[in-house]
Parts: sequence; structure tokens; C-alpha cells
Amino acid sequence: MKETEKAKRVTTRTILEMKAKNEKIAALTAYDAITAKVLDESGIDIILVGDSLSNVFQGNETTIPVTLDEMVYHAKIVVRAVKRALVVVDMPFMSYQVDAEEALRNAGRILKETAASAVKVEGGQAIAESVRRMTEVGIPVMGHLGLTPQSINKFGGYKPRGEEKTEASRILADAKLLESAGAFSIVLEKIPAQLAAKVTKSVKVPTIGIGAGESCDGQILVYADMLGLTQDFKPRFVRHYANMAEEMHNAFVRYIDEVKKGKFPSKEESY
Ligand code: KIV
Repeated sequence: MKETEKAKRVTTRTILEMKAKNEKIAALTAYDAITAKVLDESGIDIILVGDSLSNVFQGNETTIPVTLDEMVYHAKIVVRAVKRALVVVDMPFMSYQVDAEEALRNAGRILKETAASAVKVEGGQAIAESVRRMTEVGIPVMGHLGLTPQSINKFGGYKPRGEEKTEASRILADAKLLESAGAFSIVLEKIPAQLAAKVTKSVKVPTIGIGAGESCDGQILVYADMLGLTQDFKPRFVRHYANMAEEMHNAFVRYIDEVKKGKFPSKEESY
């Protein structure tokens, strides 16, 4: 987008209208200002300050350890850098599961302190009442079903969810529950493409897939995965659009070499 063109804000309404217009929704994560700015200027629809920052940014094995304070810190930074995209913030593990009161208080804190536009929560039936309470008071909520990483200790691994009939029916029922509780969109993670297509057809709110096939109304990836920054993580659903880890490595090696050989800085780079 040219600097003179004023960016039209993407809102939750825009996202809902995109499904109605059959327009695909593109989403990626960001946790810092530089990435968020480049993403926003590239025309992304949704930026998720995902709790994947626990893995990507903090180097943890799961999303469990990241705290509400840390999510708020990163969300503030991202929001500050974004002019157009809809910024959604993940509610971290145990910031919304206890009861609706706590969910409401913590979601309210995220919106008030970060100026983000929406929150994302994982789960269906167990949190549907909290989703209802949040949406009733004006807090837009994105749902997340299928392989919900905050439940990794229950699942015991990252294998696809909803492959057998009972779980597939549960995911479909949960999607309808989230929709009736007021969620404005639903992330479907690592479920069979056929099931994702069925869910997408069954609800009016957009589904955003990650490892859930082509029929979802939109797609999301972790930015560091698609840029090839996370080298030891390559599930089938991640497409590498760049090999940034290699690019960074080569640049660092060149810099070190030039410093050691006295080739950097040059006269032109000095005062
Ligand atoms: O935390 C995250 O990045 C996510 C996306 C992968 C959907 O929840």
C-alpha cells in the first residue's frame, strides 16, 4: 500500500463479511513491532499475538508457561505497530478456564491495556459460557478447536485431532456452540480437511485453518514457521515461503568475518 493511501481498518465485521463474500482471509502471528509493521504493510487481514510466542519467542516447549502479563506486553507492542490489520490476542492457559468471571476480567484487561480488537480462546463446550459473557459485553472472541495446544498434556502429543467419529462430532458440535455463544470466527487446527470443510459449511462465522485443508474460510500460520526461522519444526501444514534462518546465518557469518578482518566499518561508514 502507498504511504498516501489511508489504510481502512479491518474489523470483526470485515472478517464476517469476507466469508459472506467468499473472500479468503489471510492471517499470521506476530509478537514484535518490526514483524507486525511489515506484516501489516503487506496487507495481512488478521495478526494474531499467539501464545505460540511461548515457543517461538521464549523458547519454551509448549504454550503453557506464557503469562497474561507477557501476552499483554507483546500485544501492546504489536498494536502500536499496526494501522490496518485486525489484532487478536491469545488468552494464555488458565486465564479463562476457571470461570466466566475470570475470563471476562482478563479479556477486559487485554482489550483495555493493549487496544487490541479481540481475544482468542481454546475449547468448545467447557468455555462456551465464558465466550457468551465476553461477547455479550462487547469483547469479540475468536474460538480455537481441534489440536488446541494448551491441552497438549491431555492429548499427549501433536497428532491430528478429530480423526475418529466421536471427536469429529464433538468438534462440529463445539463449532456450532461457539457460533451461538457469539464467537466471530473459529480457528481449526490440525483436523482432517473433510471435517474442516463440514464445519466451515455448518457455521456462518469464518473458519481459519492451520493444518485443516483448503476449504476453510481463511488460513493462519506462525510467521516464524513460514519464514523458515524455526528450523527444527516442519509439520506437513507449514509451507516455507523463505529460508530466513539460513539468510540470517549467512549475514551474521559475513559480519563477523568482516569485523575480524577489519573490513567493517569502512571510511564511508565512519564520521
Ligand atoms: O498461538 C498461535 O500461534 C495460534 C495459531 C497457531 C493459531 O494459536
